[in-house]
Amino acid sequence: MSFSSRRRNYLLTPHRKDPLIQWMKEMLNHSFVLDCLETTAADTFSHLEQLIEEHRMTPPNSDNPTRLQLLVPTVGTFHTNLPLRKAFIAYNKKYALTKRKYITISFNELRHILNLAQIMALRGEEQQWNPKEKSDMKRSLKSWTNSPGYLCKGIASEQFLPPLDLGQPMLQNPGDGAQEGGGFLPGLKQVEEKLKKIEIRFKGPKMITFDGDQTLYSDGANFEGNPQLANYLYLLLRHGVTIAVVTAAGYEYNREKYEMRLSGLLAYFKSKNLPAEDCERFYLFGGECNFLLKLGSDYRLHPIKERGAGGWMTATKFITNSPGNWKESEVKVLLDNAEKTINESMKELRLRGTVLRKRRAVGMYPQPNQVIPREALDETVLRVHDKMNQIPTMNLPFCAFNGGSDVWVDVGNKRVGVEILTAYLGIAPEDTVHVGDQFLNTGNDHAARGICPCIWITNPDETTYILKSILRLAGVPLDSFPADDNEISSDELSQGSEDAGDFEKKDDDKKSSAINLATFCQRASLAKNMDSMRSGGSD
Ligand code: IMP
Ligand code: MG
Repeated sequence: MSFSSRRRNYLLTPHRKDPLIQWMKEMLNHSFVLDCLETTAADTFSHLEQLIEEHRMTPPNSDNPTRLQLLVPTVGTFHTNLPLRKAFIAYNKKYALTKRKYITISFNELRHILNLAQIMALRGEEQQWNPKEKSDMKRSLKSWTNSPGYLCKGIASEQFLPPLDLGQPMLQNPGDGAQEGGGFLPGLKQVEEKLKKIEIRFKGPKMITFDGDQTLYSDGANFEGNPQLANYLYLLLRHGVTIAVVTAAGYEYNREKYEMRLSGLLAYFKSKNLPAEDCERFYLFGGECNFLLKLGSDYRLHPIKERGAGGWMTATKFITNSPGNWKESEVKVLLDNAEKTINESMKELRLRGTVLRKRRAVGMYPQPNQVIPREALDETVLRVHDKMNQIPTMNLPFCAFNGGSDVWVDVGNKRVGVEILTAYLGIAPEDTVHVGDQFLNTGNDHAARGICPCIWITNPDETTYILKSILRLAGVPLDSFPADDNEISSDELSQGSEDAGDFEKKDDDKKSSAINLATFCQRASLAKNMDSMRSGGSD
C-alpha cells in the first residue's frame, strides 16, 4: 500500500476513537431519539452480547467475516464471554441512564459497562457456584448497585500521606493501627482475624496486570500516598491474586528507580507486614516486557534471572516474540529507524523536544517548560508505525506510543509482557486482566488486548474504584475492612431494594411508550450535537 493510500485509509478509520464503543453508541442513539431506551436498551445489550459471543466462537482464520466484523471491521479478540445485559441492568439501576431525557448514554458510560461485564465474566461460571455462593454473589451485586459509585464520588478522595522511607525499620507494634498511616485502617491483628474468619473462594481474576503511569499513579508522578488503592492491592494479594505492574518505563535492572516510582505502595506493604508468600506474588515488568523483577520479603524489588534454569527468558523461549529470541542486531535496526523517524518528525514539525536512546527504547520528550501538542505526538507515533511497516525484515514486536506528553518506541510491547507472565507463572491468559489507560491505537495498553481481557480506566481514582468492584464482586465483604466510604449498610439493602434479577423482570414487562414529534426532533438534534462535539475517547 502506498503512503498516500494508507493515509486515505487512516482517515477512514480515524484515531482517538474506539470503533466498537462508537458503534455501540450509535446503536443506542436510535433508541434514545425514539425515547424507548427504557424498554429496549437491555435487549440491545443482549443483542451486542450475542454478536460478541458469535464472533468469539468463530475461528480466527475463518473465511467468512463474523456479523460483528462486518459492522466493526477493526474489532479485536474477546477472551471471555461478556454478560453485557446483566452489566447494563446493574449499571442502569445505579445511575438511571434510561431516565435521562436530554443526555444519551455516553462513551464513558459504555466503557464502564464493558468494564463491569468483564469483571462479572472473570467470576467464572455461575453454574459452578454452590447455593451459598449464589446468594453471596447476589448480595454482592446488590451492594455494588446500591453503593454511590465512581461517578458519584463513591470512593473517598485521595488521602495523601507523605511517602514512607523504604529503609525505615519494621513497625515495633504491628497490632497498633494508629501507627499505620494515621489510623484510617484497622490494626493488623484485626485484619488478620477478619481474613481468617472470611472463608471465601475468591471469584475473580487469578492475575491482574497494571499499567503504571495514569493507572496506579498520575502521569509522571510516583505512587506516594494513596492508601485506599494500596489497601485494595494488599487485599488482592492476601486473597491469592498475582499482581504485576507492566509498565513502559524501563530502567533496566536499576531497582531503586522502580522502587522510587512505587515507594508509597511498597512502604504500605511493609507497614502491613504483608506475608512473604504474598510478597512473592508481586511482580514488575519494566520496559513493557524487558526487565522482570519480583518483590521479596524485604519489600524490595529483586531482578529475576534471565537465562539458565529457572530464568524467565529461557523458560519462555517457546513464545516466538519472547525477548529470549531477539537478536541484538535486529534490536539495533528497529531503534535506529525509530530514532531517525523521531528526529525527522521533530525537525519537520518544529518540535521543542529532546531525544533519548536507551538499550531497548528511544523516546522524545519536551524540553523544560515546553509542551509538545497532542497532534504532533500522535503524528510522530503514526510516522513510526508507518516506517516499521515499510521494513520487510522487521519481525520484532514493538510499541510506538503517545505517552501523554512524550513519544516512545519500545522494543517489545505489553502483549508480550503479559504473555510472558502468564507462561512463566502458569496462569491462563483468560484468568488474567490488564488494567490500563491507553487503549487507543496510539496508546501502549492497546497491545495487551491481543492476549487477555482488559479494563480501560482513565486515572488512578478509577483504578481504585475498579479494584473495589473486583473485590466486592469476587465475594470479599469489604465492610469487614476499612470504612472507606458512605455505602448503604447491608440492612438497608435488604429493605425493599430490588436486585438486578427483579429489575430485569420488570424491565422485560415494560411496554414501549408513544413519543411525540417535537420530542423526537429535539432528541435527534441532541444526539447529533453530542456526537460532533464529543467524539471518541474524550467524552
Ligand atoms: P506506563 O503508562 O506505565 O506504561 O508508562 C509510560 C511512560 O513511562 C511514558 O509516557 C514515559 O513518560 C515513561 N517512560 C520512561 N522510560 C520509558 C521507556 O524506556 N519507554 C517508554 N516509556 C518510558
Ligand atoms: Mg499509562
